[in-house]
Amino acid sequence: MALPSHKPPHIGSEPFSTESYFQTQRPPPGLEDKSATMLGFVNKWKDVQGKKVVLVTSGGTTVPLESNTVRFLDNFSAGTRGATSAEYFLSQGYAVIFLHRLHSLRPFSRHYSHSLNPFLDLLSIVQPSSQEAGSSSSSSSSSPSIVVPREHARTLLPILQAYHKAQEEGTLLSVDYQTVNDYLWLLRAVTASMASLGRRGMYYLAAAVSDFFLPEDKVAEHKIQSSKGTLSLEMDQVPKVLRPLVQEWTPEGYIVSFKLETDPELLIPKARAALSRYGHQLVIGNELHRRKYEVVFVERTSSSSSDQVPSKGTGDDRLKGTETPPILPEEGVHNGDGLGAAGVALKEGYKETWLRLDDIKNGAQEAGKHVGGKGRDGEVEIEELIIEELVKRHQAWIDAGQETE
Ligand code: PMT
Repeated sequence: MALPSHKPPHIGSEPFSTESYFQTQRPPPGLEDKSATMLGFVNKWKDVQGKKVVLVTSGGTTVPLESNTVRFLDNFSAGTRGATSAEYFLSQGYAVIFLHRLHSLRPFSRHYSHSLNPFLDLLSIVQPSSQEAGSSSSSSSSSPSIVVPREHARTLLPILQAYHKAQEEGTLLSVDYQTVNDYLWLLRAVTASMASLGRRGMYYLAAAVSDFFLPEDKVAEHKIQSSKGTLSLEMDQVPKVLRPLVQEWTPEGYIVSFKLETDPELLIPKARAALSRYGHQLVIGNELHRRKYEVVFVERTSSSSSDQVPSKGTGDDRLKGTETPPILPEEGVHNGDGLGAAGVALKEGYKETWLRLDDIKNGAQEAGKHVGGKGRDGEVEIEELIIEELVKRHQAWIDAGQETE
């Protein structure tokens, strides 16, 4: 990949546009190889009739403070949402490109993460019986063996089976990134490959992408010395790549972005603002502390032909470059209270659907039923519900495309 050859058109205090970003920031090492691998994966599945392919982005991006990097800014994301969702997409028959932060959680192995459930704790050592040890000359039968006790094997078996299935079928491709720069270049490359899938491609953008970065010309080459006293940083804004992704890179793709807030009051206005600004199909809102138990789907209804087929809008140019939520019709914040597990609220132009684990569990309890899921130990995970809903919407998007052909 050639290095940027001309000077930045953004010099000074102008914020970076997506275009000026890619003209001025160097592509990461390994981009060509990773892009070729992703293209090969897409082409393989493109030829399989009806096969749907999803890009899952996962984990946080880093912002290095030095080019010989000792220190960097990071965020909280462990990649749970992305790794878990990838498993459910696979179980729904998708081919999955899992674009993830290096060393963040991965599909299948996430169940045995070193901090929560170290895999060494699963294993037991069985010493050979004195008979075996005495009678055999071969060292293998006299050595201790390692076994997975039955109570762990029961849980491990379905995970291992699903993992082997994905490996044998070649339906999971994992590609890693570390910095926000790696992420942006890889996202653009994979989207360029997936665009050829048309409506069969889904983009599930769960990564927590840094909003600020240090452009190359502002990054210190060597370790910043603490002897120089306090450290002041002025960071530039990362361009929001959702706009070109939706409108130029993959106009036919089914695009799902996430919105994370810590103030629940902001969740729906911000999700609506994102839909309005970028013109894609769906925003999944989640509040930091409740993200494992409830999420809200926010979609437009105004120009859609049916409840299940969100239309792709054009994006609202008046909102370019602003993070302020627009004054939307019926802007009142709606938290979906009392709407049930998949409570639906219709407001002018927007539809909100809440998915809540608690409601499902309470509903099942009231009905005297046990509610089981596909998670470890048979529990329900919110991602199982999210993916079930998304598969329906994605299929409706594909069908609507065929009707208009
Ligand atoms: O990994 P976990 O611990 O399970 O946490 C999961 C999660 C909370 C990180 C995830 O569910 C989530 O909400 N991810 C999105 C976080 C967020 O709010 O991102 P954002 O507001 O910066 O961006 C919104 C969307 O725009 C995202 O889909 C992002 O991929 C996209 N984006 C962001 C920055 C940028 N420069 N360009 C983008 O396209």
